[in-house]
Amino acid sequence: MHYFTYKNSELFAEDVSVRDIVNRAGTPLYIYSHKTITRHLDAYKDAFNSYPNTICYAVKANPNPALLRIIAKKGGGADVISGGELFLALKAGIPAKKIVYAGVGKTREEIIFALRSGILMFNVESQDELVAIDHIAGELGVKAPIALRVNPDISVSTHPYISTGLKKHKFGIPIEKALENYRLANSLPNIRILGIHKHIGSQITRVSPFVAALKKVLSLAQMLRSQGIKIQYMDIGGGLGIPYNNDENPPHPKELALKILPLLRKNNLKLITEPGRSITGNAGILVTKVLYLKKHHKKEFVIVDAGMNDLLRPSLYDAFHNIQHVKRNRRTKISADIVGPVCESGDFFAKDRKINRPLQGDLLAIMSAGAYGFSMSSTYNSRPRVAEVLVKGKKFHIIREREQYKDLVRGIKIPEFLK
Ligand code: LLP
Repeated sequence: MHYFTYKNSELFAEDVSVRDIVNRAGTPLYIYSHKTITRHLDAYKDAFNSYPNTICYAVKANPNPALLRIIAKKGGGADVISGGELFLALKAGIPAKKIVYAGVGKTREEIIFALRSGILMFNVESQDELVAIDHIAGELGVKAPIALRVNPDISVSTHPYISTGLKKHKFGIPIEKALENYRLANSLPNIRILGIHKHIGSQITRVSPFVAALKKVLSLAQMLRSQGIKIQYMDIGGGLGIPYNNDENPPHPKELALKILPLLRKNNLKLITEPGRSITGNAGILVTKVLYLKKHHKKEFVIVDAGMNDLLRPSLYDAFHNIQHVKRNRRTKISADIVGPVCESGDFFAKDRKINRPLQGDLLAIMSAGAYGFSMSSTYNSRPRVAEVLVKGKKFHIIREREQYKDLVRGIKIPEFLK
């Protein structure tokens, strides 16, 4: 559910017309709805509030500090994957004690930063990393709180690039190696074991893989307890899908809670969830303007001013995003490729999409772009990054200025010999 709806044929973000925002902030432009984000957060809160839990929003989905402020103000935590994300989460006011830190390649500097900040726990992804964290914590004279990220070898039907819980993936420690790694962790002087972490993939549209994975790691937790290794937290990762397409019907957090809370209760483990997409995904749209139309033989192209550098998902995953006219119209439908200006054949938002014939100057809204949209954007083709706007009720706020050409040379130095 989201708050992008039509009033008198014009698309509105909450109570503001998208066209009015574009008149101020230009295109391409990301627009987010405050009410949608809080609604999604509340859905998680309500689903799990009967049980001790922390919702650690996956910052990678959308790290705009204004959005992180919403999470902070609602009492949420953060799942971070880099020193940069940790910095942003802390700066937004998310308490360190509600931050978990995953990632297969944490550097020494990042580990020091996290230890000094006092995060809740590291989600450790390898034995080498475990030993490194122990060593660094020793140097700092602190104990490092950790969970091991266990790879439960569960297959999920999602795009192969965003499935993470199989043996062949780089993530986590294989479940059959978990016990020996926990034993090692238990023997290291500067490590404090707090929990178990797992994350099996993203855009998962059924509850069953979550349950299957949880069952596997719960039996690990029981085994650990029987060996005197105490576990307090079960971090089940993120991954709940969203409807990109009208016929997709992913489970509500309530359905997830219904299935997993009884299992956790039996094991007396506090819960951590790491939702990303299901918080911000449907809370954002990318608005773009039609520049040109052209036809090659029978193939029609709609060329818009946003490109794959602004929203990479269709190019990288062949991901489907609904594309709607900002002003509804009754023109005849055509079937067209909707493409950007970037110099790559892979620069498209939709292929052979049925859409009411767009005309030059029309505004189109690419829906469900709030997660992994801006956060995966780049300046490829030397295109400055676009602006971001947050709408709350009748007001909108620019939460990131559009970059300018001068931003493209920030930090650049021409060596003396080239001057
Ligand atoms: N926790 C961990 C450890 C993760 O790796 C991820 C996502 C999440 C939580 C949040 O997952 P979510 O609830 O958002 O599904 N760029 C891809 C998605 C990559 C997801 C990476 N990890 C896309 O655009 O579909």
